Amino acid sequence: MSPPRPANALDRLADAVGRAARDVPLVAEGGVVAAVAPGHYRVGGLSPFLKLGERVAIPGADGPQIGEVVRIDARGATVKPFEGAIDARLGTRTWRMEPVSLQPDPTWKGRVVDALGRPIDGRGPLRHGATIVHPFREPPPAMRRARLGGHFRTGVRAIDLFTPLCAGQRIGVFAGSGVGKSTLISMLAAAQTVDTVVIALVGERGREVREFLEETLGANRDKAVMVVSTGDESPMMRRLAPNTAMAIAEFFRDRGEHVLLIADSVTRYAHAARDVALAAGEPAVSRGYPPSVFSDLPRLLERAGPGYEGTGTITGIFSVLVDGDDHNDPVADAIRGTLDGHIVLERWIADRGRYPAMNPLTSISRLSRKVWSPEEQALVRSFCALIARFEETRDLRLMGAWQPGADPDLDRAVAIVPRLYDALRQDPASPKSEDPYRELAVLLKG
Ligand SMILES: Nc1ncnc2c1ncn2[C@@H]1O[C@H](COP(=O)(O)OP(=O)(O)O)[C@@H](O)[C@H]1O
Ligand SMILES: [Mg+2]
Repeated sequence: MSPPRPANALDRLADAVGRAARDVPLVAEGGVVAAVAPGHYRVGGLSPFLKLGERVAIPGADGPQIGEVVRIDARGATVKPFEGAIDARLGTRTWRMEPVSLQPDPTWKGRVVDALGRPIDGRGPLRHGATIVHPFREPPPAMRRARLGGHFRTGVRAIDLFTPLCAGQRIGVFAGSGVGKSTLISMLAAAQTVDTVVIALVGERGREVREFLEETLGANRDKAVMVVSTGDESPMMRRLAPNTAMAIAEFFRDRGEHVLLIADSVTRYAHAARDVALAAGEPAVSRGYPPSVFSDLPRLLERAGPGYEGTGTITGIFSVLVDGDDHNDPVADAIRGTLDGHIVLERWIADRGRYPAMNPLTSISRLSRKVWSPEEQALVRSFCALIARFEETRDLRLMGAWQPGADPDLDRAVAIVPRLYDALRQDPASPKSEDPYRELAVLLKG
């Protein structure tokens, strides 16, 4: 692979003209605004020309204001703008545009873009590649996908021991707010064994975005493309951001790379998809969620994984907010069903100051058996048994009902589990783990 040539002025001009011609076509079907509501407007006269997902523009103070068609009926189409307050009156002229598309390029590594793929890091224009991709692509058909890759070492001890991952796996990080999802995910983003990291930050606070970039990404800063849609952006942007990130990940995967795709959080994506579906007139069926949310979620998550035979693979890590620590809410359930495993972070563990607050007894990687050697699996099983024993007797021991010597298994648990817990502690600044099994074996002997 030859390194990308820096864009010269002529390339940039040709690129700008090409994109302008697509964005503001010389001839386009036109209509008029027929109704305006706080989050969307209706367009008359365009219905026969429109498809769902295409865009409509109206003139705005700073150039055209662009929205997506979210519903079409005989009387008109409902359009939700990507940005800004709606700047339309009845009768404002509108025109039709092609759906959102992106032209990723290897030079996007190290850059930060918004959901529409525009640079937001103040480091100048992006170079656009030759391939046009659409954010809402379908996953490759299951039978034509390559098989999962080998062991993916994350460097996070608790994960590499208890829920080891494979390249191409999809895993969720489930927890209530403030339990450490974003921190754990940023530690994973620093994994050394990937070619590219694509990070979608959806509905996050602006402050966290800078932290992510400047502190936690470390050596992977130049391998990472970040797609950011903060909590104050429109639901359209928040719904688009993880799909844009996935399309960029697919671009690098199709070049044969091992891509780590991280989305924080998928719950905020589901909220945005809910807002859009409600505006499109769908009924709410499950705790306020319209049915399309439950088909949008798997469609996004399924796109992570191996590509066609001969291409690369996307390992997907998705954070899921469990509202009020209720692990059965419908979104968490739908996501859990699509993934190949879940890492559960618990508030009671975080409250004891143990980070990452992962519960090894309830966290599962469905592919761990492919990774563990028989000895490693036996070691992990015996640790889990000790942890279970230790935790279920915690109250008893606090009441003073434990005497050493009465139950050798419990004695062993009391001796080993606190040391195990100590060994699992890790924060973004601590060194990455090379071989967690050996580290543990050494620790337990000592
Ligand atoms: N690995 C860790 N080491 C030390 N502190 C942590 C760790 N993970 C989380 N924390 C603490 O928990 C707080 C909340 O973490 P965060 O990742 O923002 O949670 P969430 O994304 O689940 O809301 C952090 O500000 C930090 O104080
Ligand atoms: Mg967070």
